[in-house]
Amino acid sequence: MSKSILVTGGAGYIGSHTVLQLLLSGCHVATVDNLDNSSEVAISRVRHLAGDSGKHLSFHKKKSNEARLKKIIYIKIFLNCRFDAVIHFAGSKAVGESVAKPLLYYNNNVIGTIILLEVMAAYGCKKLVFSSSASVYGSPDRVPCTEDFPLAPMNPYGQTKLMAEDICRDLHRSDPEWQIMLLRYFNPVGAHPSGLLGEDPRGIPNNLMPYVQQVAVERRPTLTVFGNNYSTKDGTGVRDYIHVVDLADGHNAALNKLFEKDSKIGCEAYNLGTGKGTSVLEIVSAFEKASGKKIPLVFGERRPGDCEVLYAATTKAETQLNWKAKYGIEEMCRDQWNWACNNPYGYGKSDSNTEDEIISTKTKASDSWFSDVCITS
Ligand code: UFG
Repeated sequence: MSKSILVTGGAGYIGSHTVLQLLLSGCHVATVDNLDNSSEVAISRVRHLAGDSGKHLSFHKKKSNEARLKKIIYIKIFLNCRFDAVIHFAGSKAVGESVAKPLLYYNNNVIGTIILLEVMAAYGCKKLVFSSSASVYGSPDRVPCTEDFPLAPMNPYGQTKLMAEDICRDLHRSDPEWQIMLLRYFNPVGAHPSGLLGEDPRGIPNNLMPYVQQVAVERRPTLTVFGNNYSTKDGTGVRDYIHVVDLADGHNAALNKLFEKDSKIGCEAYNLGTGKGTSVLEIVSAFEKASGKKIPLVFGERRPGDCEVLYAATTKAETQLNWKAKYGIEEMCRDQWNWACNNPYGYGKSDSNTEDEIISTKTKASDSWFSDVCITS
């Protein structure tokens, strides 16, 4: 029987890709999003890409971040439907902003999670997949990071993820019926191969890949490389970039594990990364190759709070979730560029193309992506 999944933050970058995978796997999905850093256009494109299964998606706009109203919205959603599990993406995710506005981050990410868990408990839904982050590791002494490394976030954003993880661990200890997967994302990049879904950050991008993309489409003149005197292969920071479609697929794998017959999962953390470290200059060069565009660089100071090298140990997810990232840097840059070319202004309106025109052209050009999608159920 098909499962019913509630996805919070389903219009966002990782959320929209995951909702699509869930629909294609035969799930019924309800998603709720406040559209603060996302667009309802993503929801209509997910519906379109899902074809017939698109009718199994419902969307609820959360109009307020105020705790009491948030709770009421969750209650209304739970009153309408019995969910088998929840995937909780909703939250704020900019590291720099979290330093400037810690209360906003503790409110959205920690209190927001508590409210959701309270409503889930009240309606007897005790299976959760939680969006955590590699930022819980801070700056580890060595790499690759295994899930049992000490957790020492270096900014309020990472701290909120660790606090939410701790709340989940305590909740499971208090009531072993709770089954919770804590997915620690490394650096999600790329876009859906159809060119219809991708990352659309508001304002100046905080992260490397969307910044590189905006330089390539000439929205910004140069990329500042934050530091070129690290002890790395070329002096620039090294990270574990993972294709967003692989990441979305990791959520399907986590759900499959939760729904296994007699699943023994309690509250477990899993790294979702590729296990490979790539430097800033390597990303720039791969993007230049994929796009045929030159990315002008300026070398700047190290960014405060940045670590030198961070990449994942992937064995736990491979062996226990039967999941492994399939795509490499080349595909990540190819799909990022495809998204950039088709949506230079993200989901916002650009030149003369109407939304219908964008959808129909893109679907014809890239029907082949359907055969690429990994579907499990
Ligand atoms: N970088 C630059 N110039 C830029 C932006 C980034 O040189 O304009 C460098 C950074 O110094 C770092 C690398 O590119 O070496 C990656 O930086 P990102 O900002 O893209 O990502 P972070 O590794 O800092 O990770 C942050 C959060 C994670 C989150 C991730 C993706 O800490 O929790 O972004 O959203 F998962």
